[in-house]
Amino acid sequence: MVQQANRPDGPGATKARSSTRDTAKADLVVVANRLPVQHTSNQEGEEWRPSPGGLVSALTSVLQNRNGLWIGWAGTSEHEAPPASYEGIRLRAIDITNEEYENFYLGFSNATLWPLYHDAIRAPTFHRHWWQSYIKVNLRYATAVADSVAPGGTVWIHDYQLQLVPRMLRELRPDVRIGFFLHIPFPPIELFMQLPWRREILAGLLGADLIGFQVPHAASNFSRMVRRQSAATGTDSLLHYEGRTIRIGAFPISVDCEQIVKLARDPDIRARSVEIRKDLGNPEVVLLGVDRLDYTKGIQQRIKAVAEMFQDGSLATGKHVMVQVAVPSRETDAHYERERHNLEQVVSEMNGENGHVGMPVIHYLHQNLPFDELVALYLAADVMLVTPFRDGMNLVAKEYVMCRTDLTGRLVLSEFAGAAAELRGAFMVNPHDLEGVKEAIRLAVNAGPKEARDRMSRMRRKTYRRDVYDWAESFLLALQQTSM
Ligand code: G6P
Repeated sequence: MVQQANRPDGPGATKARSSTRDTAKADLVVVANRLPVQHTSNQEGEEWRPSPGGLVSALTSVLQNRNGLWIGWAGTSEHEAPPASYEGIRLRAIDITNEEYENFYLGFSNATLWPLYHDAIRAPTFHRHWWQSYIKVNLRYATAVADSVAPGGTVWIHDYQLQLVPRMLRELRPDVRIGFFLHIPFPPIELFMQLPWRREILAGLLGADLIGFQVPHAASNFSRMVRRQSAATGTDSLLHYEGRTIRIGAFPISVDCEQIVKLARDPDIRARSVEIRKDLGNPEVVLLGVDRLDYTKGIQQRIKAVAEMFQDGSLATGKHVMVQVAVPSRETDAHYERERHNLEQVVSEMNGENGHVGMPVIHYLHQNLPFDELVALYLAADVMLVTPFRDGMNLVAKEYVMCRTDLTGRLVLSEFAGAAAELRGAFMVNPHDLEGVKEAIRLAVNAGPKEARDRMSRMRRKTYRRDVYDWAESFLLALQQTSM
Protein backbone atom coordinates (compact mmCIF):
# COMPACT_ATOMS: atom_id res chain seq x y z
CA MET A 1 0.00 0.00 0.00
CA VAL A 2 2.63 2.52 0.98
CA GLN A 3 6.33 3.03 0.88
CA GLN A 4 8.72 4.23 3.49
CA ALA A 5 10.67 7.46 3.13
CA ASN A 6 14.31 7.02 4.07
CA ARG A 7 16.97 9.64 4.42
CA PRO A 8 19.27 8.96 1.46
CA ASP A 9 22.61 9.30 3.14
CA GLY A 10 23.29 7.38 6.31
CA PRO A 11 26.14 8.30 8.62
CA GLY A 12 29.37 8.02 6.72
CA ALA A 13 27.77 7.94 3.28
CA THR A 14 29.21 10.85 1.39
CA LYS A 15 28.26 10.64 -2.23
CA ALA A 16 25.34 9.52 -4.31
CA ARG A 17 25.45 6.06 -5.83
CA SER A 18 25.80 5.70 -9.58
CA SER A 19 22.70 4.83 -11.60
CA THR A 20 21.67 1.42 -12.84
CA ARG A 21 22.09 1.48 -16.64
CA ASP A 22 21.17 -0.62 -19.59
CA THR A 23 21.97 0.56 -23.05
CA ALA A 24 18.92 -0.87 -24.91
CA LYS A 25 16.14 1.70 -25.43
CA ALA A 26 12.70 0.97 -24.00
CA ASP A 27 9.39 1.18 -25.88
CA LEU A 28 7.49 2.06 -22.72
CA VAL A 29 8.95 3.97 -19.78
CA VAL A 30 7.23 4.45 -16.42
CA VAL A 31 8.64 7.34 -14.41
CA ALA A 32 7.69 7.71 -10.77
CA ASN A 33 9.34 9.28 -7.78
CA ARG A 34 10.07 5.80 -6.46
CA LEU A 35 11.21 2.51 -8.01
CA PRO A 36 8.93 -0.53 -7.62
CA VAL A 37 11.38 -2.14 -5.17
CA GLN A 38 12.27 -1.10 -1.65
CA HIS A 39 15.16 -1.91 0.60
CA THR A 40 14.28 -3.95 3.67
CA SER A 41 16.36 -5.24 6.53
CA ASN A 42 15.31 -7.77 9.13
CA GLN A 43 16.86 -10.60 11.17
CA GLU A 44 17.43 -12.68 8.03
CA GLY A 45 19.48 -9.90 6.44
CA GLU A 46 19.01 -7.17 3.89
CA GLU A 47 17.33 -7.32 0.53
CA TRP A 48 15.40 -5.44 -2.15
CA ARG A 49 11.75 -6.48 -2.21
CA PRO A 50 8.92 -5.45 -4.51
CA SER A 51 6.97 -2.55 -3.04
CA PRO A 52 3.54 -3.72 -1.93
CA GLY A 53 0.35 -2.73 -3.70
CA GLY A 54 -1.69 -3.25 -6.82
CA LEU A 55 -0.19 -0.22 -8.59
CA VAL A 56 3.25 -1.82 -8.76
CA SER A 57 1.77 -5.14 -10.00
CA ALA A 58 -0.33 -3.45 -12.68
CA LEU A 59 2.45 -1.22 -13.99
CA THR A 60 4.90 -4.11 -13.89
CA SER A 61 2.55 -6.20 -16.00
CA VAL A 62 2.11 -3.51 -18.67
CA LEU A 63 5.87 -2.95 -18.77
CA GLN A 64 6.56 -6.69 -19.14
CA ASN A 65 4.45 -6.81 -22.28
CA ARG A 66 6.05 -3.78 -23.86
CA ASN A 67 9.85 -3.96 -23.45
CA GLY A 68 9.54 -1.66 -20.49
CA LEU A 69 11.74 0.32 -18.14
CA TRP A 70 10.91 1.89 -14.76
CA ILE A 71 12.80 5.03 -13.72
CA GLY A 72 12.66 6.19 -10.09
CA TRP A 73 14.43 6.87 -6.82
CA ALA A 74 15.59 3.91 -4.72
CA GLY A 75 14.71 5.76 -1.49
CA THR A 76 18.20 5.26 -0.09
CA SER A 77 21.85 5.43 -1.04
CA GLU A 78 22.97 3.91 2.22
CA HIS A 79 22.72 0.35 0.95
CA GLU A 80 23.84 -1.57 -2.11
CA ALA A 81 22.35 -0.34 -5.41
CA PRO A 82 18.90 -1.64 -6.37
CA PRO A 83 18.76 -4.54 -8.84
CA ALA A 84 19.03 -3.72 -12.56
CA SER A 85 15.82 -5.57 -13.26
CA TYR A 86 12.71 -6.82 -11.49
CA GLU A 87 10.20 -9.36 -12.80
CA GLY A 88 11.59 -9.01 -16.30
CA ILE A 89 11.50 -5.19 -16.46
CA ARG A 90 14.53 -2.99 -16.34
CA LEU A 91 15.05 -0.50 -13.53
CA ARG A 92 17.00 2.74 -13.69
CA ALA A 93 17.69 4.50 -10.40
CA ILE A 94 17.78 8.28 -10.04
CA ASP A 95 20.14 9.68 -7.43
CA ILE A 96 18.84 12.16 -4.87
CA THR A 97 21.45 13.84 -2.69
CA ASN A 98 20.97 14.65 0.97
CA GLU A 99 20.36 18.29 0.13
CA GLU A 100 17.78 17.35 -2.54
CA TYR A 101 16.10 15.03 -0.07
CA GLU A 102 15.57 18.08 2.17
CA ASN A 103 14.63 20.59 -0.54
CA PHE A 104 13.01 18.58 -3.33
CA TYR A 105 11.43 15.66 -1.39
CA LEU A 106 10.64 16.91 2.13
CA GLY A 107 10.46 20.53 0.99
CA PHE A 108 8.77 21.32 -2.31
CA SER A 109 7.08 17.94 -2.83
CA ASN A 110 5.84 17.27 0.68
CA ALA A 111 5.67 20.64 2.44
CA THR A 112 4.58 22.84 -0.52
CA LEU A 113 2.64 20.71 -3.01
CA TRP A 114 1.28 17.96 -0.72
CA PRO A 115 -0.55 20.30 1.71
CA LEU A 116 -1.56 22.74 -1.08
CA TYR A 117 -3.13 19.93 -3.12
CA HIS A 118 -4.88 18.52 -0.02
CA ASP A 119 -7.04 21.56 0.75
CA ALA A 120 -4.20 23.28 2.66
CA ILE A 121 -5.02 21.18 5.76
CA ARG A 122 -1.56 22.32 6.87
CA ALA A 123 -0.32 25.69 5.63
CA PRO A 124 1.86 25.11 2.54
CA THR A 125 5.36 26.59 2.81
CA PHE A 126 6.88 28.41 -0.15
CA HIS A 127 10.66 28.65 -0.46
CA ARG A 128 12.56 29.68 -3.58
CA HIS A 129 15.46 27.31 -2.91
CA TRP A 130 12.99 24.38 -2.64
CA TRP A 131 11.58 25.37 -6.03
CA GLN A 132 15.09 25.48 -7.54
CA SER A 133 15.72 21.97 -6.23
CA TYR A 134 12.39 20.77 -7.69
CA ILE A 135 13.45 22.06 -11.12
CA LYS A 136 16.87 20.45 -10.84
CA VAL A 137 15.58 17.01 -9.81
CA ASN A 138 12.75 17.07 -12.39
CA LEU A 139 15.35 17.84 -15.07
CA ARG A 140 17.41 14.85 -13.91
CA TYR A 141 14.38 12.57 -14.34
CA ALA A 142 13.54 14.09 -17.74
CA THR A 143 17.12 13.66 -18.97
CA ALA A 144 17.20 10.03 -17.83
CA VAL A 145 13.95 9.33 -19.68
CA ALA A 146 15.12 11.12 -22.83
CA ASP A 147 18.21 8.96 -22.79
CA SER A 148 16.30 5.67 -22.26
CA VAL A 149 13.21 5.78 -24.46
CA ALA A 150 13.15 4.32 -27.98
CA PRO A 151 12.30 6.57 -30.97
CA GLY A 152 8.52 7.10 -31.05
CA GLY A 153 8.19 5.35 -27.67
CA THR A 154 5.71 6.01 -24.88
CA VAL A 155 6.40 7.56 -21.49
CA TRP A 156 4.05 7.50 -18.51
CA ILE A 157 4.94 9.99 -15.75
CA HIS A 158 3.43 9.68 -12.26
CA ASP A 159 2.44 12.10 -9.54
CA TYR A 160 3.02 15.50 -8.00
CA GLN A 161 6.77 15.12 -7.47
CA LEU A 162 7.37 15.18 -11.27
CA GLN A 163 5.03 17.79 -12.74
CA LEU A 164 7.75 19.58 -14.72
CA VAL A 165 8.95 16.40 -16.42
CA PRO A 166 6.36 16.36 -19.27
CA ARG A 167 7.47 19.70 -20.71
CA MET A 168 11.18 19.11 -20.10
CA LEU A 169 10.94 15.75 -21.82
CA ARG A 170 9.00 17.18 -24.78
CA GLU A 171 11.79 19.69 -25.34
CA LEU A 172 14.39 16.92 -25.28
CA ARG A 173 12.38 14.29 -27.17
CA PRO A 174 9.51 15.71 -29.27
CA ASP A 175 9.12 12.29 -30.93
CA VAL A 176 7.71 10.47 -27.86
CA ARG A 177 4.15 10.17 -26.60
CA ILE A 178 3.82 11.49 -23.05
CA GLY A 179 1.17 10.65 -20.46
CA PHE A 180 0.93 12.09 -16.95
CA PHE A 181 -1.22 10.80 -14.09
CA LEU A 182 -1.78 12.71 -10.84
CA HIS A 183 -2.47 10.30 -7.96
CA ILE A 184 -3.46 13.01 -5.49
CA PRO A 185 -6.24 15.64 -5.76
CA PHE A 186 -5.84 18.70 -7.99
CA PRO A 187 -6.84 21.68 -5.84
CA PRO A 188 -9.55 24.26 -6.54
CA ILE A 189 -8.42 27.40 -8.40
CA GLU A 190 -8.43 29.64 -5.27
CA LEU A 191 -5.85 27.40 -3.60
CA PHE A 192 -3.68 26.64 -6.62
CA MET A 193 -3.41 30.42 -7.23
CA GLN A 194 -1.33 30.70 -4.03
CA LEU A 195 1.56 28.86 -5.64
CA PRO A 196 4.19 31.43 -6.73
CA TRP A 197 5.23 29.05 -9.56
CA ARG A 198 1.70 28.15 -10.71
CA ARG A 199 2.36 29.08 -14.36
CA GLU A 200 5.51 26.98 -14.53
CA ILE A 201 3.76 23.94 -13.02
CA LEU A 202 0.86 24.26 -15.49
CA ALA A 203 3.24 24.66 -18.43
CA GLY A 204 5.15 21.61 -17.14
CA LEU A 205 2.02 19.45 -17.14
CA LEU A 206 0.90 20.76 -20.54
CA GLY A 207 3.95 19.10 -22.05
CA ALA A 208 1.95 15.84 -21.87
CA ASP A 209 -0.41 14.49 -24.57
CA LEU A 210 -2.77 13.04 -21.95
CA ILE A 211 -3.20 14.26 -18.37
CA GLY A 212 -5.14 11.91 -16.10
CA PHE A 213 -6.75 12.56 -12.71
CA GLN A 214 -8.52 10.34 -10.18
CA VAL A 215 -11.94 12.01 -10.46
CA PRO A 216 -13.73 14.26 -12.97
CA HIS A 217 -13.78 17.12 -10.45
CA ALA A 218 -9.95 17.24 -10.33
CA ALA A 219 -9.80 17.14 -14.14
CA SER A 220 -12.16 20.08 -14.41
CA ASN A 221 -10.30 22.05 -11.69
CA PHE A 222 -7.18 21.63 -13.81
CA SER A 223 -8.79 22.48 -17.15
CA ARG A 224 -10.40 25.63 -15.79
CA MET A 225 -7.13 26.63 -14.14
CA VAL A 226 -5.04 26.31 -17.31
CA ARG A 227 -7.54 28.20 -19.43
CA ARG A 228 -7.30 31.03 -16.93
CA GLN A 229 -3.55 31.04 -16.40
CA SER A 230 -2.12 30.07 -19.79
CA ALA A 231 -2.75 30.46 -23.51
CA ALA A 232 -4.58 27.09 -23.57
CA THR A 233 -8.12 27.06 -24.98
CA GLY A 234 -10.72 24.31 -25.27
CA THR A 235 -13.01 22.30 -23.02
CA ASP A 236 -12.71 20.34 -19.79
CA SER A 237 -11.58 17.28 -21.74
CA LEU A 238 -9.67 18.70 -24.72
CA LEU A 239 -7.19 21.58 -24.69
CA HIS A 240 -5.34 23.34 -27.51
CA TYR A 241 -1.97 24.68 -26.54
CA GLU A 242 1.10 25.74 -28.56
CA GLY A 243 -0.30 24.04 -31.68
CA ARG A 244 -0.91 20.73 -29.92
CA THR A 245 -4.02 18.96 -28.63
CA ILE A 246 -3.99 17.68 -25.05
CA ARG A 247 -6.54 15.25 -23.66
CA ILE A 248 -7.67 15.58 -20.05
CA GLY A 249 -9.62 12.83 -18.29
CA ALA A 250 -10.54 11.01 -15.11
CA PHE A 251 -9.07 7.51 -14.66
CA PRO A 252 -10.05 6.31 -11.16
CA ILE A 253 -7.38 3.94 -9.89
CA SER A 254 -8.34 0.63 -8.30
CA VAL A 255 -6.89 -2.47 -6.65
CA ASP A 256 -5.90 -5.96 -7.78
CA CYS A 257 -9.37 -7.45 -7.17
CA GLU A 258 -8.55 -11.07 -8.07
CA GLN A 259 -5.50 -11.17 -5.85
CA ILE A 260 -7.37 -9.68 -2.87
CA VAL A 261 -10.30 -12.09 -3.26
CA LYS A 262 -7.86 -14.97 -3.44
CA LEU A 263 -6.17 -13.88 -0.20
CA ALA A 264 -9.53 -13.27 1.48
CA ARG A 265 -10.49 -16.89 0.72
CA ASP A 266 -7.18 -18.34 1.85
CA PRO A 267 -7.86 -20.68 4.83
CA ASP A 268 -4.69 -19.61 6.67
CA ILE A 269 -5.58 -15.93 6.39
CA ARG A 270 -9.17 -16.65 7.48
CA ALA A 271 -7.85 -18.59 10.46
CA ARG A 272 -5.61 -15.66 11.31
CA SER A 273 -8.60 -13.30 11.24
CA VAL A 274 -10.44 -15.55 13.75
CA GLU A 275 -7.33 -15.50 15.91
CA ILE A 276 -7.19 -11.69 15.75
CA ARG A 277 -10.80 -11.44 16.96
CA LYS A 278 -9.98 -13.85 19.77
CA ASP A 279 -6.93 -11.79 20.75
CA LEU A 280 -9.20 -8.73 20.85
CA GLY A 281 -11.44 -10.55 23.36
CA ASN A 282 -14.09 -11.72 20.85
CA PRO A 283 -15.99 -8.43 20.97
CA GLU A 284 -19.36 -7.98 19.23
CA VAL A 285 -18.02 -5.31 16.89
CA VAL A 286 -14.50 -4.62 15.67
CA LEU A 287 -13.90 -1.17 14.18
CA LEU A 288 -10.78 -0.73 12.03
CA GLY A 289 -8.71 2.12 10.60
CA VAL A 290 -5.71 1.55 8.32
CA ASP A 291 -3.84 4.61 7.08
CA ARG A 292 -0.43 5.95 6.25
CA LEU A 293 0.31 8.18 9.26
CA ASP A 294 -0.52 11.44 7.49
CA TYR A 295 -2.35 14.57 8.66
CA THR A 296 -4.63 14.36 5.62
CA LYS A 297 -6.15 11.07 6.82
CA GLY A 298 -8.25 12.44 9.69
CA ILE A 299 -7.08 9.72 12.09
CA GLN A 300 -7.19 11.83 15.25
CA GLN A 301 -10.63 13.21 14.44
CA ARG A 302 -11.98 9.69 13.91
CA ILE A 303 -10.49 8.44 17.18
CA LYS A 304 -11.99 11.42 19.02
CA ALA A 305 -15.40 10.52 17.56
CA VAL A 306 -15.07 6.90 18.72
CA ALA A 307 -13.80 8.01 22.17
CA GLU A 308 -16.86 10.28 22.62
CA MET A 309 -19.09 7.35 21.70
CA PHE A 310 -17.54 5.27 24.48
CA GLN A 311 -18.19 8.14 26.86
CA ASP A 312 -21.79 8.76 25.85
CA GLY A 313 -22.60 5.06 26.02
CA SER A 314 -23.18 4.42 22.29
CA LEU A 315 -20.20 2.05 22.42
CA ALA A 316 -19.31 -0.19 25.36
CA THR A 317 -15.91 -1.38 26.59
CA GLY A 318 -15.52 -5.10 25.93
CA LYS A 319 -18.41 -5.14 23.46
CA HIS A 320 -16.81 -2.77 20.94
CA VAL A 321 -13.09 -2.56 20.11
CA MET A 322 -11.17 -0.39 17.69
CA VAL A 323 -7.92 -1.25 15.91
CA GLN A 324 -5.92 1.56 14.29
CA VAL A 325 -2.96 0.73 12.07
CA ALA A 326 -0.84 3.82 11.33
CA VAL A 327 1.81 3.00 8.75
CA PRO A 328 5.03 5.01 9.37
CA SER A 329 5.50 7.68 6.70
CA ARG A 330 7.79 10.68 5.99
CA GLU A 331 9.06 10.42 9.53
CA THR A 332 11.86 12.94 9.09
CA ASP A 333 9.33 15.75 8.48
CA ALA A 334 8.33 17.90 11.47
CA HIS A 335 4.60 17.92 10.54
CA TYR A 336 4.53 14.13 10.46
CA GLU A 337 6.47 13.86 13.72
CA ARG A 338 3.97 16.19 15.39
CA GLU A 339 1.04 14.28 13.90
CA ARG A 340 2.37 11.03 15.36
CA HIS A 341 2.91 12.62 18.74
CA ASN A 342 -0.62 14.10 18.86
CA LEU A 343 -2.19 10.89 17.59
CA GLU A 344 -0.47 8.80 20.24
CA GLN A 345 -1.66 11.25 22.88
CA VAL A 346 -5.28 10.87 21.70
CA VAL A 347 -4.93 7.06 21.66
CA SER A 348 -3.57 6.92 25.19
CA GLU A 349 -6.25 9.33 26.49
CA MET A 350 -8.91 7.15 24.91
CA ASN A 351 -7.59 4.02 26.59
CA GLY A 352 -6.87 5.81 29.86
CA GLU A 353 -10.44 7.07 30.13
CA ASN A 354 -12.39 4.11 28.70
CA GLY A 355 -10.28 0.96 28.98
CA HIS A 356 -10.24 -1.68 31.70
CA VAL A 357 -7.27 -3.74 32.88
CA GLY A 358 -6.50 -6.18 30.06
CA MET A 359 -9.23 -4.57 27.95
CA PRO A 360 -8.12 -1.50 25.99
CA VAL A 361 -10.74 0.13 23.76
CA ILE A 362 -8.24 0.94 21.01
CA HIS A 363 -5.34 -1.21 19.81
CA TYR A 364 -2.82 1.00 18.06
CA LEU A 365 -0.09 -0.31 15.73
CA HIS A 366 2.53 2.04 14.30
CA GLN A 367 3.89 -0.53 11.86
CA ASN A 368 4.26 -1.58 8.27
CA LEU A 369 2.21 -4.80 8.19
CA PRO A 370 2.55 -7.50 5.52
CA PHE A 371 -0.42 -7.50 3.15
CA ASP A 372 -1.59 -10.97 4.35
CA GLU A 373 -1.92 -9.59 7.86
CA LEU A 374 -3.84 -6.56 6.56
CA VAL A 375 -6.26 -8.86 4.76
CA ALA A 376 -6.74 -10.82 8.00
CA LEU A 377 -7.51 -7.53 9.77
CA TYR A 378 -9.98 -6.50 7.04
CA LEU A 379 -11.68 -9.88 7.52
CA ALA A 380 -11.77 -9.41 11.28
CA ALA A 381 -13.33 -5.92 11.06
CA ASP A 382 -17.09 -5.39 11.11
CA VAL A 383 -16.83 -1.65 10.48
CA MET A 384 -14.06 -0.02 8.45
CA LEU A 385 -13.40 3.67 9.08
CA VAL A 386 -11.91 5.64 6.17
CA THR A 387 -12.31 9.32 7.02
CA PRO A 388 -9.63 11.45 5.30
CA PHE A 389 -10.05 15.23 5.13
CA ARG A 390 -8.96 14.93 1.49
CA ASP A 391 -7.68 11.95 -0.50
CA GLY A 392 -7.01 11.42 -4.22
CA MET A 393 -8.69 7.98 -4.17
CA ASN A 394 -8.00 5.87 -1.01
CA LEU A 395 -7.31 2.28 -1.89
CA VAL A 396 -7.84 0.99 1.67
CA ALA A 397 -11.58 1.48 1.15
CA LYS A 398 -11.47 -0.60 -2.05
CA GLU A 399 -9.25 -3.27 -0.46
CA TYR A 400 -11.72 -3.69 2.41
CA VAL A 401 -14.69 -3.98 0.06
CA MET A 402 -12.92 -6.61 -2.07
CA CYS A 403 -12.09 -8.68 1.05
CA ARG A 404 -15.73 -8.95 2.15
CA THR A 405 -16.59 -11.88 -0.11
CA ASP A 406 -19.46 -12.94 2.19
CA LEU A 407 -21.05 -9.46 1.82
CA THR A 408 -20.71 -8.63 5.50
CA GLY A 409 -18.85 -5.59 6.80
CA ARG A 410 -19.74 -1.93 6.68
CA LEU A 411 -17.71 0.97 5.36
CA VAL A 412 -17.76 4.49 6.81
CA LEU A 413 -16.26 6.71 4.11
CA SER A 414 -15.34 10.37 3.84
CA GLU A 415 -17.07 12.40 1.13
CA PHE A 416 -13.64 13.91 0.46
CA ALA A 417 -11.98 10.67 -0.67
CA GLY A 418 -11.95 10.08 -4.44
CA ALA A 419 -13.39 6.60 -3.71
CA ALA A 420 -16.66 8.21 -2.53
CA ALA A 421 -17.62 8.85 -6.17
CA GLU A 422 -17.74 5.08 -6.74
CA LEU A 423 -18.49 3.48 -3.36
CA ARG A 424 -21.99 4.86 -3.00
CA GLY A 425 -22.99 2.01 -0.67
CA ALA A 426 -20.79 3.39 2.13
CA PHE A 427 -22.00 5.33 5.18
CA MET A 428 -20.82 8.75 3.99
CA VAL A 429 -19.38 11.34 6.35
CA ASN A 430 -18.00 14.85 6.38
CA PRO A 431 -14.88 14.20 8.50
CA HIS A 432 -14.90 17.80 9.78
CA ASP A 433 -18.31 17.21 11.35
CA LEU A 434 -17.64 15.23 14.52
CA GLU A 435 -21.33 14.72 15.30
CA GLY A 436 -21.89 13.53 11.73
CA VAL A 437 -18.99 11.06 12.01
CA LYS A 438 -20.44 9.71 15.28
CA GLU A 439 -23.86 9.34 13.69
CA ALA A 440 -22.45 7.47 10.66
CA ILE A 441 -20.46 5.13 12.93
CA ARG A 442 -23.62 4.54 15.01
CA LEU A 443 -25.59 3.69 11.86
CA ALA A 444 -22.82 1.41 10.57
CA VAL A 445 -22.43 -0.41 13.90
CA ASN A 446 -26.19 -0.96 14.18
CA ALA A 447 -26.97 -1.72 10.52
CA GLY A 448 -28.86 -4.99 10.08
CA PRO A 449 -27.42 -7.83 7.94
CA LYS A 450 -29.78 -7.12 5.02
CA GLU A 451 -28.81 -3.44 4.81
CA ALA A 452 -25.10 -4.30 5.17
CA ARG A 453 -25.41 -6.93 2.45
CA ASP A 454 -27.17 -4.59 0.00
CA ARG A 455 -24.63 -1.86 0.54
CA MET A 456 -21.64 -4.19 0.30
CA SER A 457 -22.80 -5.98 -2.84
CA ARG A 458 -23.35 -2.62 -4.54
CA MET A 459 -19.81 -1.52 -3.69
CA ARG A 460 -18.28 -4.84 -4.72
CA ARG A 461 -20.03 -4.87 -8.08
CA LYS A 462 -18.74 -1.39 -8.81
CA THR A 463 -15.17 -2.14 -7.72
CA TYR A 464 -15.00 -5.47 -9.55
CA ARG A 465 -15.97 -3.82 -12.82
CA ARG A 466 -12.60 -2.03 -13.20
CA ASP A 467 -9.52 -3.24 -11.38
CA VAL A 468 -6.04 -1.74 -11.38
CA TYR A 469 -5.07 -3.66 -14.55
CA ASP A 470 -8.06 -2.13 -16.40
CA TRP A 471 -7.01 1.25 -15.05
CA ALA A 472 -3.46 0.92 -16.46
CA GLU A 473 -4.68 -0.47 -19.80
CA SER A 474 -7.35 2.21 -20.22
CA PHE A 475 -4.88 5.02 -19.53
CA LEU A 476 -2.36 3.61 -22.01
CA LEU A 477 -5.07 3.04 -24.61
CA ALA A 478 -6.26 6.65 -24.26
CA LEU A 479 -2.64 7.77 -24.56
CA GLN A 480 -2.13 5.73 -27.73
CA GLN A 481 -5.24 7.39 -29.20
CA THR A 482 -3.98 10.95 -28.68
CA SER A 483 -2.90 12.77 -31.80
CA MET A 484 0.75 13.76 -32.08
C1 G6P B 1 1.04 8.92 -1.86
C2 G6P B 1 1.61 9.56 -3.13
C3 G6P B 1 2.75 8.72 -3.71
C4 G6P B 1 3.77 8.42 -2.63
C5 G6P B 1 3.11 7.74 -1.43
C6 G6P B 1 4.08 7.45 -0.28
O1 G6P B 1 0.33 7.78 -2.17
O2 G6P B 1 0.59 9.77 -4.07
O3 G6P B 1 3.35 9.41 -4.78
O4 G6P B 1 4.81 7.62 -3.15
O5 G6P B 1 2.08 8.59 -0.94
O6 G6P B 1 4.77 8.60 0.07
P1 G6P B 1 6.36 8.69 -0.01
O7 G6P B 1 6.66 10.12 0.31
O8 G6P B 1 6.87 7.73 1.03
O9 G6P B 1 6.81 8.30 -1.39
